[in-house]
Amino acid sequence: MSELAFVIGAYLLGSVSFGILMSHAFGLPDPRTVGSGNPGATNVLRSGKKLAAALTLFGDAAKGWVAVRLALDLQAHFGWAPWMVCVVGLAVFVGHLYPIYYGFKGGKGVATALGILLAFSVWLGLAVLLTWAAVFAISRYSSLAALVASWLAPIHAVALLPYKGYAITAAVIAVLITWRHRSNIKKLIAGTEAGFGKKQ
Ligand code: G3P
Repeated sequence: MSELAFVIGAYLLGSVSFGILMSHAFGLPDPRTVGSGNPGATNVLRSGKKLAAALTLFGDAAKGWVAVRLALDLQAHFGWAPWMVCVVGLAVFVGHLYPIYYGFKGGKGVATALGILLAFSVWLGLAVLLTWAAVFAISRYSSLAALVASWLAPIHAVALLPYKGYAITAAVIAVLITWRHRSNIKKLIAGTEAGFGKKQ
């Protein structure tokens, strides 16, 4: 399989939205029409169906992990350049943000980023997950946790991984996650962001 075909395949895989699929499977409203309007695990969780949210988180993370894991295997077998793995990671990530199947209106990329970073390195993924959990535990804001975790990810990557392409990819992902959280950032500043366990 050529590198280009694999990158296109990764984009198409990233375009599959588990938030939309799981909501449909559980008879929930389309997440794009309720809450924050984001087809992600956080917004699915607002429906109260924890299993649907967990499966959304798992599915959106798994597609990032699978694409990068396969790319790493192909890189090892066919001698692809190391940066090809980063391109594949960005392709699956961009698929989630701008999915071809849903009019290029996708999610904010947090779960998919986690899957990609876990595939780069389990330790990197765990460091990011731990950062997210710590910020969420303190603030109760999923968006703030995602923003802080995404911006610390390239720093973790520099510290943990010899190949710097992973840190650069994590930085590009952080920029895109920040861009997709524009409305959350405005609400966080205004004090109107929907936190878990907070009175609105
Ligand atoms: O993973 C998305 C999260 O960071 C924010 O989601 O629905 O509160 O905009 P939401």
